Amino acid sequence: MKGWLIVNNFMKSAKFDEIYAYLKSAAEKEQIQLEILKTGALPHSVNALKERVQEADFALFWDKDVVLARQLEACGLRLFNSAAAIEKCDNTAFTAVELERAGVPVPETYAAPLTFEGIRIDDFGFAEEAAEKLGFPLVIKENAGSFGKQVYLASDMDDVKSIIEKIGHKGFILQRFIAESSGRDVRVNVVGGKVICAMLRESTDGDFRSNVTLGGHGKAYTVNKEQEAAALAACDAMGLDFAGVDVLFGDGGKPVICEVNSNPHFKSTIDATGTDLSLYIMKHVKNVLG
Ligand SMILES: Nc1ncnc2c1ncn2[C@@H]1O[C@H](COP(=O)(O)OP(=O)(O)O)[C@@H](O)[C@H]1O
Ligand SMILES: [Mg+2]
Repeated sequence: MKGWLIVNNFMKSAKFDEIYAYLKSAAEKEQIQLEILKTGALPHSVNALKERVQEADFALFWDKDVVLARQLEACGLRLFNSAAAIEKCDNTAFTAVELERAGVPVPETYAAPLTFEGIRIDDFGFAEEAAEKLGFPLVIKENAGSFGKQVYLASDMDDVKSIIEKIGHKGFILQRFIAESSGRDVRVNVVGGKVICAMLRESTDGDFRSNVTLGGHGKAYTVNKEQEAAALAACDAMGLDFAGVDVLFGDGGKPVICEVNSNPHFKSTIDATGTDLSLYIMKHVKNVLG
């Protein structure tokens, strides 16, 4: 079996290279020949890709270049994860739509009305209405973001306005702050409809965000039945083969889904739990393709 590991064309990062190396070595263990391909090495054109895709049985799509993902699918290539799933995960507003549609518990969320580059948001009525429902502090998240870097906590309307002004024309959501979960959550790793392992993440410097990249500490964690059901329902709703699901502690510890990562950065999970997710991902690919 032969596959492509498709990675971003421009990002140069040892942190990501490490993940690609884990995936490649896991593929070898499953007798899968996995070739690392930067997105720029493939023509971004359905007609030009038609012949090229004959070289591969599947692609492990480790980028957010959903245009290429869709083009590859149009040529009949099986992607792990699918273009639609990656697209929905990569946009926090779309994620909320899919999870709410499926009845998966999420923090109450309001998306910002669309604006365009060069057109300032000069009417904060929508944010005032959301704030009335959500109370303070509230969470603001850019629609695209990772490692906690585009997630903010606003303690009053002045804060809300200055955060929105900083975000500019990029889309964002306003979300209820789940205070019980401040500074901690559970990263639940799911492959092929099963929870493989989980990690409790706790911030160490009082930050409300628990991301390991921001200094959070991870340790192995055993999910309870409710957390397991919520994480699996979230993956199902998003149509994911595998994912890292961030689960918050709601009222009385009840699970609330914070976000779903289609390309989970699983190094911190390996460090905390000793479980190498890439082995499960490659086994799943083999199972699906038979
Ligand atoms: N609504 C919320 N209530 C409480 N904490 C939150 C909320 N949303 C995010 N967080 C915290 O911020 C972290 C980063 O948010 P997340 O949506 O996972 O963005 P990213 O994709 O950047 O990791 C979460 O892991 C969690 O600790
Ligand atoms: Mg996260």
